[in-house]
Amino acid sequence: MVVVTRRLPAAVEEQLAREFDASLNREDRPLDAPALAHALGSADGLVCTVTDRLDAQVLAVEPVRARILANYGVGFNHIDLAAAKRRGLVVTNTPEVLTEDTADDAVMLMLMVARRAGEGEREVRAGAWRGWRPTHLLGTKVSGKTLGLVGMGRIARAVARRARAGFGMRVVFHDPVPPPPEVVAELGATALASIDDVLRDADFVSLHCPASPETRHLMDARRLRLMKRGAFLINTARGDVVDERALVQALAAHELAGAGLDVYEREPEVSPELLAMQNVVLLPHLGSATTETRVAMGLRVLENLTAFFAGAPPRDRVA
Ligand code: 8YV
Repeated sequence: MVVVTRRLPAAVEEQLAREFDASLNREDRPLDAPALAHALGSADGLVCTVTDRLDAQVLAVEPVRARILANYGVGFNHIDLAAAKRRGLVVTNTPEVLTEDTADDAVMLMLMVARRAGEGEREVRAGAWRGWRPTHLLGTKVSGKTLGLVGMGRIARAVARRARAGFGMRVVFHDPVPPPPEVVAELGATALASIDDVLRDADFVSLHCPASPETRHLMDARRLRLMKRGAFLINTARGDVVDERALVQALAAHELAGAGLDVYEREPEVSPELLAMQNVVLLPHLGSATTETRVAMGLRVLENLTAFFAGAPPRDRVA
Protein backbone atom coordinates (compact mmCIF):
# COMPACT_ATOMS: atom_id res chain seq x y z
CA MET A 1 0.00 0.00 0.00
CA VAL A 2 1.23 3.51 -0.82
CA VAL A 3 0.03 6.79 0.67
CA VAL A 4 -0.41 9.61 -1.84
CA THR A 5 -0.08 12.84 0.10
CA ARG A 6 -1.88 15.22 -2.29
CA ARG A 7 -4.57 15.15 -4.95
CA LEU A 8 -3.03 14.19 -8.32
CA PRO A 9 -4.52 14.28 -11.84
CA ALA A 10 -7.32 11.72 -12.10
CA ALA A 11 -5.56 9.46 -14.63
CA VAL A 12 -2.57 9.21 -12.30
CA GLU A 13 -4.68 8.52 -9.21
CA GLU A 14 -6.60 5.79 -11.03
CA GLN A 15 -3.41 4.02 -12.06
CA LEU A 16 -1.92 4.38 -8.57
CA ALA A 17 -5.06 2.92 -7.01
CA ARG A 18 -5.10 0.05 -9.52
CA GLU A 19 -1.46 -0.89 -9.25
CA PHE A 20 -0.48 -0.02 -5.68
CA ASP A 21 -3.59 -0.14 -3.52
CA ALA A 22 -3.06 3.59 -3.05
CA SER A 23 -4.54 5.60 -0.20
CA LEU A 24 -5.55 8.83 -1.94
CA ASN A 25 -6.01 12.29 -0.47
CA ARG A 26 -9.39 13.17 -1.99
CA GLU A 27 -9.74 16.29 0.19
CA ASP A 28 -6.23 17.46 -0.83
CA ARG A 29 -5.41 18.54 2.72
CA PRO A 30 -1.64 18.86 3.31
CA LEU A 31 -0.34 16.25 5.77
CA ASP A 32 1.12 17.59 9.01
CA ALA A 33 4.08 15.97 10.81
CA PRO A 34 2.02 13.39 12.77
CA ALA A 35 0.13 12.38 9.62
CA LEU A 36 3.37 11.97 7.68
CA ALA A 37 4.87 9.94 10.52
CA HIS A 38 1.77 7.76 10.58
CA ALA A 39 2.05 7.18 6.81
CA LEU A 40 5.71 6.21 7.19
CA GLY A 41 4.76 3.71 9.84
CA SER A 42 1.80 2.17 8.04
CA ALA A 43 2.45 2.24 4.27
CA ASP A 44 5.06 0.55 2.07
CA GLY A 45 5.75 3.80 0.26
CA LEU A 46 4.81 7.46 0.08
CA VAL A 47 4.07 9.51 -3.01
CA CYS A 48 5.06 12.83 -1.51
CA THR A 49 5.54 16.35 -2.80
CA VAL A 50 6.91 19.80 -2.01
CA THR A 51 4.33 20.54 0.71
CA ASP A 52 5.44 17.54 2.81
CA ARG A 53 8.20 18.36 5.30
CA LEU A 54 9.97 15.05 5.61
CA ASP A 55 12.62 16.18 8.07
CA ALA A 56 14.81 14.13 10.42
CA GLN A 57 12.22 14.32 13.19
CA VAL A 58 9.37 12.94 11.08
CA LEU A 59 11.68 10.33 9.57
CA ALA A 60 12.70 9.20 13.08
CA VAL A 61 9.30 7.53 13.61
CA GLU A 62 9.40 3.97 15.00
CA PRO A 63 8.86 1.55 13.44
CA VAL A 64 9.19 2.58 9.79
CA ARG A 65 7.32 0.41 7.37
CA ALA A 66 7.82 2.54 4.23
CA ARG A 67 10.79 1.76 2.02
CA ILE A 68 10.43 4.41 -0.68
CA LEU A 69 9.63 8.12 -0.91
CA ALA A 70 8.56 8.56 -4.53
CA ASN A 71 8.57 12.34 -4.78
CA TYR A 72 6.18 14.02 -7.20
CA GLY A 73 8.44 16.88 -8.37
CA VAL A 74 12.06 17.32 -9.34
CA GLY A 75 13.13 19.36 -6.29
CA PHE A 76 13.54 17.39 -3.07
CA ASN A 77 14.81 19.93 -0.55
CA HIS A 78 11.74 19.18 1.61
CA ILE A 79 13.20 15.71 2.26
CA ASP A 80 16.15 15.19 4.60
CA LEU A 81 18.05 12.80 2.32
CA ALA A 82 20.60 11.81 4.97
CA ALA A 83 17.85 10.95 7.45
CA ALA A 84 15.93 9.05 4.77
CA LYS A 85 19.04 7.05 3.97
CA ARG A 86 19.62 6.27 7.64
CA ARG A 87 16.09 4.87 7.81
CA GLY A 88 16.74 2.72 4.76
CA LEU A 89 14.40 4.71 2.53
CA VAL A 90 15.00 5.04 -1.20
CA VAL A 91 14.12 8.49 -2.59
CA THR A 92 13.15 9.19 -6.22
CA ASN A 93 12.08 12.36 -8.07
CA THR A 94 10.59 13.32 -11.47
CA PRO A 95 13.24 15.09 -13.59
CA GLU A 96 13.10 15.97 -17.30
CA VAL A 97 9.31 15.89 -17.74
CA LEU A 98 8.86 19.37 -16.27
CA THR A 99 11.89 21.06 -17.84
CA GLU A 100 10.13 22.80 -20.73
CA ASP A 101 7.18 24.06 -18.66
CA THR A 102 9.42 25.46 -15.95
CA ALA A 103 11.54 27.20 -18.59
CA ASP A 104 8.34 28.67 -20.04
CA ASP A 105 7.46 29.90 -16.56
CA ALA A 106 10.81 31.70 -16.22
CA VAL A 107 10.42 33.34 -19.64
CA MET A 108 6.82 34.27 -18.81
CA LEU A 109 7.98 36.00 -15.61
CA MET A 110 10.78 37.78 -17.48
CA LEU A 111 8.35 39.13 -20.06
CA MET A 112 5.66 39.95 -17.52
CA VAL A 113 7.90 41.94 -15.24
CA ALA A 114 9.82 43.70 -18.03
CA ARG A 115 6.67 44.63 -19.95
CA ARG A 116 4.63 45.43 -16.83
CA ALA A 117 1.96 42.90 -17.79
CA GLY A 118 0.64 42.46 -14.26
CA GLU A 119 0.24 46.21 -13.81
CA GLY A 120 -1.54 46.48 -17.16
CA GLU A 121 -3.89 43.63 -16.37
CA ARG A 122 -4.75 45.08 -12.98
CA GLU A 123 -5.47 48.42 -14.60
CA VAL A 124 -7.84 46.94 -17.20
CA ARG A 125 -9.67 44.82 -14.63
CA ALA A 126 -10.04 47.82 -12.33
CA GLY A 127 -11.74 49.74 -15.15
CA ALA A 128 -8.95 52.32 -14.88
CA TRP A 129 -7.60 52.17 -18.44
CA ARG A 130 -8.03 55.55 -20.13
CA GLY A 131 -6.97 54.43 -23.61
CA TRP A 132 -3.79 54.29 -25.66
CA ARG A 133 -1.19 56.97 -25.22
CA PRO A 134 2.49 57.09 -26.18
CA THR A 135 3.78 57.20 -22.62
CA HIS A 136 1.48 54.64 -21.06
CA LEU A 137 3.03 51.82 -18.97
CA LEU A 138 6.41 51.91 -20.65
CA GLY A 139 8.43 48.84 -19.80
CA THR A 140 11.88 47.49 -20.56
CA LYS A 141 12.85 45.90 -23.88
CA VAL A 142 13.78 42.22 -23.57
CA SER A 143 15.10 41.44 -27.06
CA GLY A 144 18.86 41.73 -27.40
CA LYS A 145 19.49 42.06 -23.67
CA THR A 146 21.79 39.89 -21.54
CA LEU A 147 20.33 36.97 -19.60
CA GLY A 148 22.38 35.70 -16.65
CA LEU A 149 21.70 32.15 -15.50
CA VAL A 150 22.69 30.99 -12.04
CA GLY A 151 23.12 27.25 -12.64
CA MET A 152 23.14 25.60 -16.07
CA GLY A 153 21.21 22.38 -15.59
CA ARG A 154 18.31 21.12 -17.67
CA ILE A 155 15.89 23.96 -16.92
CA ALA A 156 18.48 26.72 -17.34
CA ARG A 157 19.49 25.26 -20.71
CA ALA A 158 15.87 25.27 -21.85
CA VAL A 159 15.62 28.93 -20.77
CA ALA A 160 18.86 29.73 -22.63
CA ARG A 161 17.49 28.18 -25.85
CA ARG A 162 14.29 30.21 -25.61
CA ALA A 163 16.16 33.42 -24.83
CA ARG A 164 18.58 33.03 -27.74
CA ALA A 165 16.14 31.77 -30.35
CA GLY A 166 13.14 33.84 -29.33
CA PHE A 167 14.66 37.08 -28.15
CA GLY A 168 18.20 37.19 -29.57
CA MET A 169 19.53 37.50 -26.04
CA ARG A 170 23.16 37.14 -25.05
CA VAL A 171 23.36 34.38 -22.43
CA VAL A 172 25.95 34.25 -19.65
CA PHE A 173 26.00 31.78 -16.78
CA HIS A 174 27.85 30.34 -13.84
CA ASP A 175 27.63 26.75 -12.68
CA PRO A 176 30.16 25.11 -10.36
CA VAL A 177 29.71 21.99 -12.49
CA PRO A 178 29.32 23.44 -15.98
CA PRO A 179 27.93 21.40 -18.88
CA PRO A 180 30.41 19.93 -21.38
CA PRO A 181 31.96 22.56 -23.73
CA GLU A 182 30.04 21.24 -26.75
CA VAL A 183 26.73 21.79 -24.91
CA VAL A 184 27.76 25.33 -23.95
CA ALA A 185 28.78 26.00 -27.57
CA GLU A 186 25.49 24.63 -28.90
CA LEU A 187 23.63 26.94 -26.50
CA GLY A 188 25.73 29.90 -27.62
CA ALA A 189 26.23 30.74 -23.94
CA THR A 190 29.25 32.19 -22.16
CA ALA A 191 30.52 30.72 -18.89
CA LEU A 192 31.62 33.32 -16.33
CA ALA A 193 33.97 32.61 -13.45
CA SER A 194 31.56 33.39 -10.62
CA ILE A 195 27.95 34.15 -9.76
CA ASP A 196 29.06 37.69 -8.90
CA ASP A 197 30.31 38.15 -12.48
CA VAL A 198 26.93 37.01 -13.81
CA LEU A 199 25.10 39.44 -11.52
CA ARG A 200 27.26 42.39 -12.61
CA ASP A 201 26.74 41.61 -16.30
CA ALA A 202 23.09 40.58 -16.69
CA ASP A 203 19.95 42.60 -17.44
CA PHE A 204 17.87 39.61 -16.31
CA VAL A 205 19.11 37.15 -13.70
CA SER A 206 17.29 33.81 -13.59
CA LEU A 207 17.94 31.33 -10.78
CA HIS A 208 18.28 27.64 -11.65
CA CYS A 209 20.18 26.02 -8.82
CA PRO A 210 18.81 23.37 -6.46
CA ALA A 211 17.91 24.40 -2.92
CA SER A 212 20.41 23.05 -0.42
CA PRO A 213 22.16 24.28 2.72
CA GLU A 214 24.89 25.65 0.42
CA THR A 215 22.50 27.65 -1.78
CA ARG A 216 20.29 28.97 1.04
CA HIS A 217 20.18 32.76 0.70
CA LEU A 218 22.61 32.60 -2.20
CA MET A 219 20.97 35.85 -3.30
CA ASP A 220 21.67 37.86 -0.17
CA ALA A 221 21.92 41.62 0.32
CA ARG A 222 25.49 41.74 -0.99
CA ARG A 223 24.73 39.82 -4.17
CA LEU A 224 21.50 41.73 -4.83
CA ARG A 225 23.56 44.93 -4.67
CA LEU A 226 25.83 43.60 -7.41
CA MET A 227 22.93 43.52 -9.87
CA LYS A 228 22.53 46.41 -12.27
CA ARG A 229 20.02 49.02 -11.15
CA GLY A 230 17.90 48.35 -14.23
CA ALA A 231 18.06 44.56 -13.89
CA PHE A 232 15.34 42.07 -12.98
CA LEU A 233 15.55 38.94 -10.81
CA ILE A 234 13.57 35.84 -11.84
CA ASN A 235 13.10 32.92 -9.45
CA THR A 236 11.43 29.67 -10.51
CA ALA A 237 13.82 27.50 -8.45
CA ARG A 238 13.14 27.56 -4.72
CA GLY A 239 12.25 30.41 -2.39
CA ASP A 240 15.05 29.93 0.09
CA VAL A 241 17.71 30.53 -2.58
CA VAL A 242 16.75 34.21 -2.13
CA ASP A 243 16.83 36.09 1.17
CA GLU A 244 13.30 37.45 0.77
CA ARG A 245 13.83 40.20 3.36
CA ALA A 246 16.97 41.36 1.58
CA LEU A 247 15.09 41.31 -1.73
CA VAL A 248 12.36 43.51 -0.28
CA GLN A 249 14.99 45.96 0.94
CA ALA A 250 16.90 45.93 -2.35
CA LEU A 251 13.70 46.57 -4.32
CA ALA A 252 12.69 49.36 -1.95
CA ALA A 253 16.14 50.94 -2.38
CA HIS A 254 15.87 50.59 -6.20
CA GLU A 255 19.03 48.48 -6.31
CA LEU A 256 17.30 46.45 -9.02
CA ALA A 257 14.35 47.25 -11.27
CA GLY A 258 12.00 44.43 -10.35
CA ALA A 259 11.47 40.75 -9.74
CA GLY A 260 9.42 37.90 -11.14
CA LEU A 261 8.80 35.23 -8.52
CA ASP A 262 7.16 31.82 -8.70
CA VAL A 263 8.53 30.55 -5.39
CA TYR A 264 8.88 32.02 -1.88
CA GLU A 265 10.77 31.43 1.32
CA ARG A 266 7.70 30.60 3.41
CA GLU A 267 5.14 29.29 0.91
CA PRO A 268 2.28 29.96 0.71
CA GLU A 269 3.16 33.09 2.70
CA VAL A 270 4.48 36.00 0.63
CA SER A 271 6.20 39.01 2.21
CA PRO A 272 3.48 41.71 2.49
CA GLU A 273 5.93 44.31 1.16
CA LEU A 274 6.18 42.36 -2.10
CA LEU A 275 2.40 42.29 -2.41
CA ALA A 276 2.41 46.08 -2.33
CA MET A 277 5.07 46.54 -5.04
CA GLN A 278 4.00 47.15 -8.63
CA ASN A 279 7.36 46.17 -10.13
CA VAL A 280 7.12 42.60 -8.87
CA VAL A 281 5.24 39.76 -10.56
CA LEU A 282 4.05 37.10 -8.14
CA LEU A 283 2.92 33.65 -9.27
CA PRO A 284 1.79 30.78 -7.00
CA HIS A 285 4.48 28.12 -7.73
CA LEU A 286 3.17 27.35 -11.23
CA GLY A 287 6.39 26.09 -12.88
CA SER A 288 5.12 22.65 -13.84
CA ALA A 289 1.42 23.45 -13.71
CA THR A 290 0.12 22.17 -17.04
CA THR A 291 -2.16 19.17 -17.37
CA GLU A 292 0.29 17.44 -19.68
CA THR A 293 3.24 17.85 -17.34
CA ARG A 294 1.42 17.05 -14.10
CA VAL A 295 0.25 13.78 -15.73
CA ALA A 296 3.77 13.08 -17.00
CA MET A 297 5.15 13.66 -13.49
CA GLY A 298 2.63 11.15 -12.16
CA LEU A 299 3.60 8.58 -14.78
CA ARG A 300 7.24 9.05 -13.79
CA VAL A 301 6.33 8.41 -10.13
CA LEU A 302 4.50 5.25 -11.24
CA GLU A 303 7.53 4.12 -13.23
CA ASN A 304 9.76 4.57 -10.17
CA LEU A 305 7.36 2.72 -7.88
CA THR A 306 6.90 -0.15 -10.33
CA ALA A 307 10.64 -0.66 -10.69
CA PHE A 308 11.25 -0.40 -6.96
CA PHE A 309 8.59 -2.88 -5.91
CA ALA A 310 9.74 -5.26 -8.67
CA GLY A 311 13.18 -5.21 -7.09
CA ALA A 312 14.78 -3.24 -9.95
CA PRO A 313 16.68 0.05 -9.58
CA PRO A 314 14.23 2.95 -10.02
CA ARG A 315 15.15 5.29 -12.88
CA ASP A 316 15.19 8.49 -10.82
CA ARG A 317 16.81 7.45 -7.58
CA VAL A 318 18.35 10.42 -5.75
CA ALA A 319 19.12 8.62 -2.45
C1 8YV B 1 6.18 21.03 -8.51
C2 8YV B 1 8.56 21.87 -8.51
O1 8YV B 1 5.00 21.62 -8.83
O2 8YV B 1 9.17 19.76 -9.32
C3 8YV B 1 9.45 20.69 -8.59
O3 8YV B 1 10.49 20.70 -7.93
O4 8YV B 1 8.88 22.85 -7.96
C4 8YV B 1 7.24 21.85 -9.15
O5 8YV B 1 7.36 21.40 -10.46
C5 8YV B 1 6.22 20.82 -7.06
O6 8YV B 1 7.42 21.06 -6.46
C6 8YV B 1 5.79 19.41 -6.79
O7 8YV B 1 6.60 18.75 -5.87
